[in-house]
Amino acid sequence: MNLIMKMLAAPATVLALWAVSAQAATNDDIAKRLEPVGQVCVQGKECKGMEVAASAGGGDAKTPDSVIAKHCNACHGTGLLGAPKIGDAAAWGERAKKEGGVDGLLAKAISGLNAMPPKGTCADCSDDDLKGAIQKMSGLK
Ligand code: HEC
Repeated sequence: MNLIMKMLAAPATVLALWAVSAQAATNDDIAKRLEPVGQVCVQGKECKGMEVAASAGGGDAKTPDSVIAKHCNACHGTGLLGAPKIGDAAAWGERAKKEGGVDGLLAKAISGLNAMPPKGTCADCSDDDLKGAIQKMSGLK
């Protein structure tokens, strides 16, 4: 009887230890997998990457340069599709004369003109944002 109990108990102990260590390994794995999540932002603490997201999301900090770089330069940088090139005062001046000045160009930029998409693809640009970009690209006042 005693011997039988011992024979049963030994493997049971081994099994129990194995189960505990297997559980521990699993917990480690889970902890590791959760680690990156745990490192994502805790409010009030420094949070890597968030400054970038915050500044990319907040659309109110537009400058003529940022609007041009993000939206207008794709075409106006190289004159793609016949777009007047950035800094080509003669080309812009001619258009301005035809449209009645910068405000006339602005109206066309808002509505779009042939291959020029409405608002130059900057859907959340205000009229002033667009005007600033036009003035900067053309050198017109
Ligand atoms: C997909 C290319 C493209 C993008 C992006 C683009 N433009 Fe244009 N743009 C053009 C083309 C092409 C023309 C010339 C259209 C024509 O005369 O047929 C043009 C013309 C213009 C004109 C002159 C309109 C006129 O009355 O002659 C203005 C002003 C202008 N773009 C402003 C902008 C601004 C500001 C942006 C960025 C916010 C922008 N564009 C982005 C292609 C683009």
